Amino acid sequence: MQQDDLVHLTEEDPAVPLLDLEPVHRPIQAALKDAVVGVVESNRFIGGPEVEGFEREMAQYLGVEHAVGVSSGTDALIVSMMAMGIGPGHEVIVPSFTFFSTAGSVHRLGAVPIFCDIDPVTFNMDPAELERLITARTRAAVPVHLYGQVAEMKPIIEICRKRGVRVIEDAAQAIGAQYYESSAGSMGDVGCFSFFPSKNLGAMGDAGLVSTNDLELAEKIRLLRDHGATKRYYHDVVGGNFRIDALQAAVLRVKLPHLEACHEQRRANARAYVRGLADLQERGLIRLPVELPGRRHIFNQFVIRTQRRDELQDYLTSRRIGTAIYYPVPLHLQECFRDSAGPPPSLPHCEQAAREVLALPVFPGLTQIQRDKVIRCIREFLA
Ligand SMILES: Cc1ncc(COP(=O)(O)O)c(C=O)c1O
Repeated sequence: MQQDDLVHLTEEDPAVPLLDLEPVHRPIQAALKDAVVGVVESNRFIGGPEVEGFEREMAQYLGVEHAVGVSSGTDALIVSMMAMGIGPGHEVIVPSFTFFSTAGSVHRLGAVPIFCDIDPVTFNMDPAELERLITARTRAAVPVHLYGQVAEMKPIIEICRKRGVRVIEDAAQAIGAQYYESSAGSMGDVGCFSFFPSKNLGAMGDAGLVSTNDLELAEKIRLLRDHGATKRYYHDVVGGNFRIDALQAAVLRVKLPHLEACHEQRRANARAYVRGLADLQERGLIRLPVELPGRRHIFNQFVIRTQRRDELQDYLTSRRIGTAIYYPVPLHLQECFRDSAGPPPSLPHCEQAAREVLALPVFPGLTQIQRDKVIRCIREFLA
């Protein structure tokens, strides 16, 4: 850390929340209100021009042919798997170190989630482990772009194509992340996005999206998100209500043009943390996130690792710094999956990550004073 980065620290001691949406929403508040009022006045709350406009703009942003708005990231996963015909007797390979719904959605369709270990550097699915787990029952693999960095898509897609396995990108945390020339969600058979409010592009409630270049899948997903009806009250297949609200689409359309600036602010915060904590890593006290060559990490989360994670979290809490543990229990050890696929496998990298990870505040609008306080407190505790 530069000496002048430390100058203000004795003058102010602000609280640092893990996430504050105020700096993102304040400058666009008038436009957000207009968008909401516009939907209220239109009386079109389901489907309609806001949803169509949002899908068009998202397809363009992601560089895909089709974008289908849905009710949440979880429903994006479920409806995608339904469109692929995944169900009882099938296996779907998922990383064990991820948010619950990556595997929960597989289970809800009557298929079996097969848990895969991660690469300890990126926290993403290990392609060699994926290959080892493919069987005649495997229908799909779900690489998760955890924390905002794209998984090793080239080998994953090669392995899956060779074995006739579908690829569902769980890009819930990675909108706008890049893998060489491609965007997260544009490489697999489908990409699944969440607009949960804490995501880089967050709605004002729940919302999600499926991206794909496969017209047939896009049409099936459109059908399934609306009870499988080709016309009202005529149902070709059994689907569900997986529709996105017009209000959420309108809000997201206001926020989308500001998304790149938000990514850049998160990336700048990440660079500052790396500068301020690099020597702790050199001394073996923490491990910092690594952005691999050819990637653009969008830092939905900035996650460090330390063996003293719980003590560090308590210390930061006492200094009014918000942190979080994503995720404390890997999915193969969750109670609800206890009996579903025999005894839990041993996935040492997932288990170690669950003991060591700690997410720091990285939101756009984090001030330099707040950021420096986080760095200073981590140093006080560990150095
Ligand atoms: C990796 C991952 N997958 C899926 C989801 C599910 O998204 P949602 O909360 O919108 O249902 C999330 C949400 O946090 C997530 O982080």
